[in-house]
Amino acid sequence: MPIFPNNIAQAADKVVTQADADRLFVLTDEHTHDLCLPLLSSVRSLNNAQHITIGATDIHKDIASLTHVWQQLVQGGATRHSLLLCLGGGMVTDLGGFAASTFKRGIRYVNIPTTLLAMVDAAVGGKTGINFCGLKNEVGVFSEAMEVIISTDFLRTLDAENLRSGYAEMLKHALLSSESLLSQHLGFDLAAPNLNRLQELVCLSVDIKSRIVESDPHERGLRKALNLGHTIGHAFESMAMEKGRPILHGYAVAYGLACELWLSTQLKGFPQSAMRQVATFVRNFYGRAAITCDDYEHLYELMSHDKKNVAGQINFALLSKVGKVELDCHASKDLIFESLDFMREGL
Ligand code: GLY
Repeated sequence: MPIFPNNIAQAADKVVTQADADRLFVLTDEHTHDLCLPLLSSVRSLNNAQHITIGATDIHKDIASLTHVWQQLVQGGATRHSLLLCLGGGMVTDLGGFAASTFKRGIRYVNIPTTLLAMVDAAVGGKTGINFCGLKNEVGVFSEAMEVIISTDFLRTLDAENLRSGYAEMLKHALLSSESLLSQHLGFDLAAPNLNRLQELVCLSVDIKSRIVESDPHERGLRKALNLGHTIGHAFESMAMEKGRPILHGYAVAYGLACELWLSTQLKGFPQSAMRQVATFVRNFYGRAAITCDDYEHLYELMSHDKKNVAGQINFALLSKVGKVELDCHASKDLIFESLDFMREGL
């Protein structure tokens, strides 16, 4: 389970000191180098750390950035007893975790996520990797960070869109958990976020994800529940990228949740009222996906290439009620298209 310190610098100091590494490396991207690294300037154990910086955003989550990190580790004299501290959003923690887990067959790494999305999802649970051949997270390994340190202090400088993006994953965790948690999440005002309240919800959200990952670290069963909203969400995300108008991951997940909850009502008896509440929340805070019915065939094709599919069948995690997930579900093409109609025009 990640740690949630009141003082990020003290916590980082303690974790790094206890690791007793022979060499320390801090990985940032161009943004977190300028905006987040200063919060660790008082960490004495990092005084002699070597800094590695890569380009920001998902376009740099590639083999070139990975090679750069490996090269810097070699040039900096990293050994199997060295430690890599990854300070950034999901791109940095995924790529840094992969670089560490493959360098000399694996060195230890610590994640300090700086975006809401990374705090509640990417940095927790040991999925690491890079994009390859135009496919997201195509190459990677499961490898747990030695420690994940979560400080919502970083959220003070996070823009509203990235906050909403991360919140979509929290909504997903609440749907997988209980009606009470869902209603707490639907009651949160994303237009005027209260950071103290958000911090409480983040702890609850990370706890849900951590428990799921603990019971199924390699996604053979229950961890597939975390794909709720993602089968259709990833298709929205990939299509937006192809059109040269990328959308944030969490926005795609929010639209995907609306569609997949609609499918859940049709196929698994998920209550209409809860589905409409979530769809209204999505509509209010995330708007609608910019698609027309001319996009449906291509979206379907993108879903057909999802790496979670089995025997060529599009695979969904759906809900029969809040907190009750049904894994490995299938839906007809017509029904999937109707769910897209619902997301565009329903309510
Ligand atoms: N992001 C989903 C998972 O960690 O399994």
